[in-house]
Amino acid sequence: MPTPEAPIGIFDSGVGGLSVLREIRTVLPAENLLYVADSGAAPYGDRSREFIQARASAIVEFFLEHRVKAIVVACNTATAVAIQALRSSYSVPMVAIEPALKPAAAITRSGVVGILATSQTLASENFLRLMEKYGQGVSVLTQAAPGLVEQVEKGDLSGAATRVLLADYLRPLLERGADTLVLGCTHYPFLMPLIHELAGDAVTVIDPAVAVARELLRRVQSLELCNPSQAPGAEQFWTSGEPGEVQAVIAKLLGRPVAVEPLPR
Ligand code: DGL
Repeated sequence: MPTPEAPIGIFDSGVGGLSVLREIRTVLPAENLLYVADSGAAPYGDRSREFIQARASAIVEFFLEHRVKAIVVACNTATAVAIQALRSSYSVPMVAIEPALKPAAAITRSGVVGILATSQTLASENFLRLMEKYGQGVSVLTQAAPGLVEQVEKGDLSGAATRVLLADYLRPLLERGADTLVLGCTHYPFLMPLIHELAGDAVTVIDPAVAVARELLRRVQSLELCNPSQAPGAEQFWTSGEPGEVQAVIAKLLGRPVAVEPLPR
């Protein structure tokens, strides 16, 4: 049985899931967090379902070796293609991010919602189900955004190449009247200042990381597994990419130094 002191595992194809980690840190300050950036395999958006499912299972096994009490799938693409398989294979509680269409459909005034996500997420059955459930009565425009994950993985949040890519992806959504944008990939919240600059203040941008952190809090509370410590929780980071490079990018994104270890094969 897991103890309240046990850590929580968080993973993504790379550094994008840190946008979820930072919200979790705000809501659950005492929890010990383990983070895996599968940067050696990123971007997942260009990979097959089988590949992503195998990577997700390997990372879950790694977390189980570290006796986690819960796992957060901080990658929309992994949720989209692997969450059913993960939940049927493992009993550890899992909280998974997905595009926040429900709140977007509730707040849009123009009736047009734009969703930026990876091609794999948008092509998934999970996304189709989400559209059927929450996309009725509003016009939902989807935009795959290849290349943006790579820019964030490099730590390039506002350079010329990132700006051109993002402007090209936002333009068709804005021209067709989207007043609410859903960030359907955990890398994209790191581009929030640029998105606001390009889209203007009249557009509402939704990052589902906050809702995921609150859902995790509810799950941990209902399992009576909240860490009772008064001290700030510890954090450990691993990557399948080049640890020195990933460490520098994580430090930039979180705004503080971190130590990143190689993910054992
Ligand atoms: N952060 C991942 C997501 O939320 C990026 C997927 C990828 O690597 O393409 O979908």
